[in-house]
Order: sequence, then structure tokens, then C-alpha cells
Amino acid sequence: MEAIRAPRGTKDIMPEESWKWAYVLKVCRDVADDFGYREVQLPIFEHTELFCRGIGDTTDVVEKEMYTFTDRGGRSITLRPELTASMVRAYLEHDLRNQTQPVKLWSAGPMFRYERPQKGRYRQFWQVDVEALGVQDPLVDLEVIGLSLELYRRLGLSNLEVVLNSVGCPKCRPEHRKALTDYLMPRLEQLCETCQGRFSRNPLRILDCKNPSCKELTEEAPAMTDHLCDECREHFDALLRGLDAVGAKVSLDKRLVRGLDYYTKTAYEILSGDLGAQNAVCGGGRYDHLAEAIGGPFVPGVGFASGIERIVITMESQGCSFGEAPNCQVFLVSADQDLEVRLAVAGVLKELRSLGVRADMDYSGKSFKAQMKLASQKDVPWVCIIGRSELEKSVAAIKDMGRGNQEEAPLSTVAEVIFRKIAGEVR
Ligand code: HAM
Repeated sequence: MEAIRAPRGTKDIMPEESWKWAYVLKVCRDVADDFGYREVQLPIFEHTELFCRGIGDTTDVVEKEMYTFTDRGGRSITLRPELTASMVRAYLEHDLRNQTQPVKLWSAGPMFRYERPQKGRYRQFWQVDVEALGVQDPLVDLEVIGLSLELYRRLGLSNLEVVLNSVGCPKCRPEHRKALTDYLMPRLEQLCETCQGRFSRNPLRILDCKNPSCKELTEEAPAMTDHLCDECREHFDALLRGLDAVGAKVSLDKRLVRGLDYYTKTAYEILSGDLGAQNAVCGGGRYDHLAEAIGGPFVPGVGFASGIERIVITMESQGCSFGEAPNCQVFLVSADQDLEVRLAVAGVLKELRSLGVRADMDYSGKSFKAQMKLASQKDVPWVCIIGRSELEKSVAAIKDMGRGNQEEAPLSTVAEVIFRKIAGEVR
């Protein structure tokens, strides 16, 4: 029988990598705390309707990428492809309008999209997601962009490119749509098949097509930023001034559209050249009408999400530090294999662990020599050795693996002695 493997597009995060993830998520938490964003944990599955109405029926995510199934109660359920719609749903469901605005929330967890897997693109992937709900102030857009930049600064990432656009609002978009379709109409037959389909349903997305000939054809297409209404223009100008004031380097990209329909005004992405084709490490923007689209009142919002896998890939290729791996600090070695000796070792192990020292012993019946070899393979700084002769004298040997010297301590206090050595690095 053939062994069962993980589904295509999923990725096991094994111990060699999981500590890096823990580090990235810890930095995400620290930055969110520092900016006053509070954590929420939301369901991994939601009613399908939430995403159809929230993200938009004609988006790739909703049309082609959702993991949707009927549950045993006959409901249509979807594994979340993103968090923003769920965040807004939770805001409405918990009446957060009654709190001081903006309500600032963050979360991290797995998302699911049926996409063609490639480097940095998976069918199950993690996002850290940050949202500020309830106000339209462009300074909140500035804060959200600033939060993403601070996150990457703390993680040590460099050479990132911030691209920014304004995608307008329902007031100014029809005028731009008209100008765009007028421009595209005579070129329709030269566009790729997907863009021809987009022409009547969602022409704005044509600007975002990666097909080189579509790119060329839309080079001179009317830009949304040339058709903004006064409100959107003012918002965009204030944001640009703010970004300038905080010294954030951004490039304007009039073709940046984003793949989700809820965006209004601000849309941005942060790109990394170390990622290959899937170069967006972060995407976000403002979505002032999402709450209404899912049946709520007017609740403006702005936020971003960043893929954890893409952060880790970029950090690895840029040689960033992930802090210190939680390596074993003391390895306990039984110099003899009888039960009494091993129980004494297990006793010291328990004491060390209750003092918060990362300690371990061998359970596979290795010889003394093999245990010592294992300790040096693990690069453990301290080894504690107990054998029959030590037990008879009620002592244990402590070996400093860095210097190679060895000393004895009473068995009753050896855990304490090792603990102090580690705490103060007393050698
Ligand atoms: P998004 O651009 O679809 O936006 O995804 C945000 C980030 O998630 C991407 O920049 C990328 O780092 C990561 N990502 C997306 N798809 C995949 C995938 N298949 N494999 C690996 N990583 C992926 C959103 O999801 C919006 N909800 C962001 C947002 C929050 N806008 C406002 N608030």
C-alpha cells in the first residue's frame, strides 16, 4: 500500500522550522501590542455567504479558490480564505460600535485557498492580520502601513518595496470605469481571455493582469487616481503627506488594484525581490463598505495581512536572525544503565525542569560514550553525569562542554548549582 502524503499545497512545519515561526509570531504579537491592537481568535470556517458578499462574487478567491462544502446540517460552509470579512463580522456581532473607535484588532492563523502551488504560494498558509475599524481618518491608514513596516523592521527585513494606490470609492469609481472601458473597448480583442471576461464584470482587474501583452496594452490606460472625487483625493493626499512626514518610502502604482473587491481609497502592497513570482509579503488597504456588504451599518475600516511563510522565506534568504533556537541547556548522562542510576538521573532532570532549565536525558539505552557523543552533537553547553560511583558518594559530575573541565556537586543540590551556572553563566 502506498504511504499517504500531505495534500498538495500544504506544508508540514517541522521542528527545524517551527521555532522560526514562533519567533515571527512573537514579534507580530509584540508589535501589535505596542500599537494598541488586541488579539482575537475567530473561526476557521464561516458561512459561505460571508465571503461571497464580503470579498465579491467575481473575484478569483470566491470564483475559483474557496474550499466550500455542505456540512451535515445542510449549510454551505467555507474554510476562510482571509480574515478581513470575519473580523468585520465579529465586530458587528459583538456590537463593537459601542466601544471607543477605532477598534483595533489582530489575529494570526491558517487560511485556505485552492491556488496552483508554487514557491511562496500554498493552499493552506498562515496570515497575520491587522484591522482598525470604525474611523475614516487617513492617519489610521498611516498607522496600519506604519505597523507593517515596523514589523518588517523588527524582523530585520530589508529591500522591501511599498507600492500604493487609491482605488476610489463607489462615488468616483463609475466615472473611472467609464473612462477605462472606453479606453479598453477598441483593444478588447488583443486582451487575454481572462481579461476579456473581466471587461464587463470587473474591468479594474484588467489593470492588474500579469500577462505581458495586457500589461503593455494598459500602460496608458486611465488611472483611478486621475478620477478621484474630492473626498478620496483629500484622503489620498493626507496619507501621502503622512508617509512623507514619517519618512516611509513608497512608490505610487496606478495599476495596483488588489484581488479583493471590498477595497476603497487606500490599497497597498509590500513586495520582496527574494520571493520570486509570488512577491507580495503583505497586502492591505481600506474597505469602508465591507460591513454594509455583509448586512451591517456603515463601518469604515483599514488593515493588512502578511503571509507568515513568505516572511520566513524572505528572512531566510536575507540571512535575518530568528533569535535563539530553544536548544537543550543540560544533557543528563547515566554512566551506568541500572535502574537506580537512571532514576537518580530522572530525579535531577525533574528538578532542573522545575527550575525552568531546558534539560533532557537519553531514553534509548545508549552507552555512556554514545550519550556523550549525543550531547556534543546537540551542542549542549552543560552535561551532568551520574554513575554508580557518583551515586555511592551522593554526588553528580558537572561538565562544562565549552571548556572541557569537570567538577562535582552534591546530588541534593546539583540542579540548583547548574541552574546558577546557567543563570549567571558562572563557569
Ligand atoms: P491578500 O493580498 O489576499 O490580502 O493576502 C495578504 C497576504 O497573504 C499576501 O500578501 C501574501 O503574503 C499572503 N498570501 C496570500 N495568498 C497566499 C498563498 N496562497 N500562499 C501563501 N501566502 C499567501 C488579504 O488577504 C486581505 N484580507 C488583507 C487585508 C486585511 N486587507 C485589509 N485588511
